[in-house]
Amino acid sequence: MKLMKSLLAASLATAMIQPAMAYEEGDIIVRVGAATVMPSDDPGDVGGAKLEVSENTQLGVTATYMFADDFGVEVLAATPFNHTVQFEDGTDVATASHLPPTVSLQYYTLKPMEALQPYAGIGLNYTEFFNEKNKANAGIDELTSSFGLSVSAGLDFAIDEHLLLNAAIWYIDIDTEIEGGAADGTELEIDPIVWMVGAGYKF
Ligand code: NI
Repeated sequence: MKLMKSLLAASLATAMIQPAMAYEEGDIIVRVGAATVMPSDDPGDVGGAKLEVSENTQLGVTATYMFADDFGVEVLAATPFNHTVQFEDGTDVATASHLPPTVSLQYYTLKPMEALQPYAGIGLNYTEFFNEKNKANAGIDELTSSFGLSVSAGLDFAIDEHLLLNAAIWYIDIDTEIEGGAADGTELEIDPIVWMVGAGYKF
């Protein structure tokens, strides 16, 4: 009986210091947060005049399905990002919105005794631009869609068995081309860093 009591006490103590964060096959983790797209600071130029693409923050959502104890597939989605393309002097060239859905293969290091769960991923991004608006009488019709690679990393911090805090970062290869008008054919290497901070739930 004394042994039983001390075993019980020991397992209770273990349960309290172990937030059971280790993921396992079949888990689904949904994370929601503020996602910021920070485009490269040298996306391209028109006839030698440097262009800039503004950053934007939207509501981001990721969902991961663990198809093995330490591997998952993640989908990154967000409300549409809005960007302004402008010259360095601040003259607007165009505005556009885009959706950058990204699917990543993720590797989770297994550290079942720790509340911190880091992960890394490699993925594919498809970016569709829409609502392109011409601002400088440059006659821009549209920005072509982009298909490219992404790399990512993230960190979950377990609050309890289900709730977690999350920070994640992606580097995404997004290249587009201006179609129409004076800048027709200009390539924009947007290649943004996307970072998201929020909370999540493990189902
Ligand atoms: Ni690129």
